[in-house]
Amino acid sequence: MEYTMETLAQACAECQKCALGATRTKSVFGTGNPHADLMFVGEAPGEQEDLSGIPFVGRAGQLLDKFLYAVDIDRKDVYIANILKCRPPKNRDPLPEEEDACIGYLREQVRLIRPKVIVCLGRIAAMRLIKPDFKITKEHGTWFEKGGFAMTAVYHPAALLRDPRKKEEMLEDMKAIRQKLYETAN
Ligand code: URA
Repeated sequence: MEYTMETLAQACAECQKCALGATRTKSVFGTGNPHADLMFVGEAPGEQEDLSGIPFVGRAGQLLDKFLYAVDIDRKDVYIANILKCRPPKNRDPLPEEEDACIGYLREQVRLIRPKVIVCLGRIAAMRLIKPDFKITKEHGTWFEKGGFAMTAVYHPAALLRDPRKKEEMLEDMKAIRQKLYETAN
């Protein structure tokens, strides 16, 4: 089936492919510019996202917004989505079968958006999209070329809330993302 962004969002809103369909308040499809050159992919919705249906609106999202602002990237210009579209109970890590059930939505989003740069927010997205043995502490900020996309991973903003000492490295990674975007989009 050939999806448009609208029909894909609708399918996601009605999805019951895994058990999280029964416990979610809202599915969290994604937000932003559907023609973005830069796409961020997080892990899974948290409490605020589950309630609002919008990714990265809670505390971690507000911190992400600060980093975007710091490197002069407008949140409206990028696209933000997650590996899982529904909140796992008590924000536990996604289960492999949940990722497997859900990943097709993200694939279709990437196909429709055709970003140039994909940034994984945290190790869960990096392990799924870059490589299964991705080590976020060692490999954040490293660039990978995969499927025609420039890909990298940065610390998850929730990790920065737990350990603010990582914020300096995050800022450097975000500056490099700004530069990569400039190089690939021009
Ligand atoms: N954490 C994520 O990984 N995604 C969200 O949308 C919110 C918090």
